[in-house]
Parts: sequence; C-alpha cells; structure tokens
Amino acid sequence: MNDKLIIIGASGHGKVIADIAVKNGYHDIVFLDDNETIKTCAGYPVVGKTSDAISLYGDKIVAIGDARIRKEIQSKLSNVVTLIHPQAMISRRVEIGMGSVVMAGAVINSDTSIGKGVIVNTGSSIDHDCWIGDFSHISVGAHVAGTVSIGNSSWIGAGATVINNVNICGECMIGAGTVVINNIEESGTYIGVPARRIEK
Ligand SMILES: CC(C)(COP(=O)(O)OP(=O)(O)OC[C@H]1O[C@@H](n2cnc3c(N)ncnc32)[C@H](O)[C@@H]1OP(=O)(O)O)[C@@H](O)C(=O)NCCC(=O)NCCS
Repeated sequence: MNDKLIIIGASGHGKVIADIAVKNGYHDIVFLDDNETIKTCAGYPVVGKTSDAISLYGDKIVAIGDARIRKEIQSKLSNVVTLIHPQAMISRRVEIGMGSVVMAGAVINSDTSIGKGVIVNTGSSIDHDCWIGDFSHISVGAHVAGTVSIGNSSWIGAGATVINNVNICGECMIGAGTVVINNIEESGTYIGVPARRIEK
C-alpha cells in the first residue's frame, strides 16, 4: 500500500471514499476531476484531470457513480485498490474485487462474491451466497437477500429490496424502494412493488 491515494471523481461519493481512505491509513489524498472549477473536495486538493491518473504515482480508486465511466477509467489504471470501511461487517468467506468500495454499516454475509469496481453503499446488506457483478452498485440502505445474482453494471437503488433466489441481469436500474421478487432477464429500468419495467 502507498501512503498516497488518488481519487478520481471529486464528488459526494468521492468525499465518502476519502473518509474511508483516512480510516485505512492513507495520509496523502488528492482528487482528479474533469471539472476545472472544482479546486478542493472534502478539504483535499483537486490536482488534475481524469486523464492524469495514468501517469501519477500512488494508489488509485475511481469514485464515479456512472458504471460505464467507472469501468472505462478503471480499466486503464494500475495500482487500483479496494477500500472497506472498518465498520462494515464482512464475512471471512467473501471475495471482493479490485476497485470496489464498501461503506460504513454495510453487511456482506458468507460465500458472497463481489466483482470489480462495485459500490456497496452505506447501510446496505448483501446476504449469503450472492454474486454481484463488476461495476454494480448496491445503493444506500438497499437489501439483497441470500442466493441472489446481480449482473454487471446493474444499479440497485436506495432502499430497494431483492428477495432470495432471484437473478437480475446486467445493466439494470432498479429504482429506489423497488421490491424485486422475480428474475429480471431484460436490461432496463424497473420500479415499484413488485418491480415492473418502465420504458426509458
Ligand atoms: C427509477 C429512476 C432511475 C427513474 O428515474 P427517471 O428515469 O428520471 O424517471 P422519472 O423521474 O421521469 O419517473 C418516471 C416515472 O416513474 C416514477 N418513478 C420514478 N422512480 C420511481 C421509484 N423509485 N419508485 C416508484 N416510482 C418511481 C415517477 O413517479 C414517474 O411516474 P409518472 O410517469 O407516473 O409520473 C429513479 O427515479 C430512481 O429511483 N433512482 C434511484 C436513485 C438512487 O437510488 N440513488 C441512490 C444513490 S446511493
């Protein structure tokens, strides 16, 4: 581990990651962002643009909510780290891929696999035997029950619930508060209780 962490994306999400980084022992934190008007984030300097990430020395993490952009940037980088808040509760039998972040209060139970570049956000839970695909996002307060599979780049919205033994394909947006009770086999946006697809 380097002492220096470069966070790509000077956003609210980036601020939360900076706090986790401090708790993981990073002392020298800088941000990169393509918006030149942003000079600082959470008290740390914005020292350049996203494209500078390749040449800068230090550990790196992409703090951008959009899965497509997160994937595109992360795939070009080396020294990408995984950050876990010390108050997250994670079973010893969980695998977490590079570039993923696990926020405070999240719970991940036994035999679950978390891919690369995944966001397991504040106070969310992922129960036993789940498979969470690369660049997915489990939003604040969302709950995923046991033996659930979520495809790459899918986003489970704030406070959504996915019942046990359900498969959700890749590139789905599950709206805030949605309850998923059946498999979802077609990419798209789903809302409501139970979840239904809306045209977007
Ligand atoms: C589902 C979502 C992506 C749709 O956003 P959108 O494409 O901008 O859709 P709109 O706001 O135009 O809403 C379209 C319709 O769906 C309804 N709708 C939108 N989100 C809904 C939700 N989560 N639950 C129930 N209905 C919802 C709207 O009321 C609207 O209904 P109407 O056509 O009858 O007026 C968004 O509302 C959402 O839930 N995002 C989740 C954000 C989140 O969880 N962030 C967490 C960050 S950690």
